[in-house]
Amino acid sequence: MLSCNPAGKNPGDVWVIPNVKSNHVEKTSHPCQFPVELVERLVLSLTEKGDWVLDPFIGVGSTAAAAVLRGRKCAGAETVQEYIEIARKRVKKAAAGTLLTRPMDRPVYDPKNPPSKKKDTAFPPCPCGSSSSTMNVPALAPHH
Ligand SMILES: C[S@@+](CC[C@H](N)C(=O)[O-])C[C@H]1O[C@@H](n2cnc3c(N)ncnc32)[C@H](O)[C@@H]1O
Repeated sequence: MLSCNPAGKNPGDVWVIPNVKSNHVEKTSHPCQFPVELVERLVLSLTEKGDWVLDPFIGVGSTAAAAVLRGRKCAGAETVQEYIEIARKRVKKAAAGTLLTRPMDRPVYDPKNPPSKKKDTAFPPCPCGSSSSTMNVPALAPHH
């Protein structure tokens, strides 16, 4: 009998992920956006490639970006036009492999033990090809 998930180890009971504030590489004008890595963990653990992910309060598209980076499709709703426009741009960049995100495997910064300097890099496009922006962007429609 298995005592753990054969698809991978749970990273822990408490996920420590820096929030998106002024100097975070993903920061936009949205006052309370999610870190992409938070949604990535959920997308990876709860969905398969090609699945749909729905975020009814999508903001600037962190969920959509995480979904596209991981070869999923995403639909969402948002009331603020400015955020929809930012979300569309982020999804397009995610599909093109040019969206800068904080990597999931980067440890939280410890000032007493600083890591060697690493630059933020864009996540490579998903090799499965199912993350094209033309497939995903129209799903980000304004919701009134
Ligand atoms: C906590 S924020 C979501 C941020 C998002 N996770 C991100 O990372 O960008 C909630 C969003 O829901 C939007 N919202 C509020 N009421 C809504 C509604 N009735 N339908 C759709 N979106 C709504 C707000 O404008 C806001 O951008």
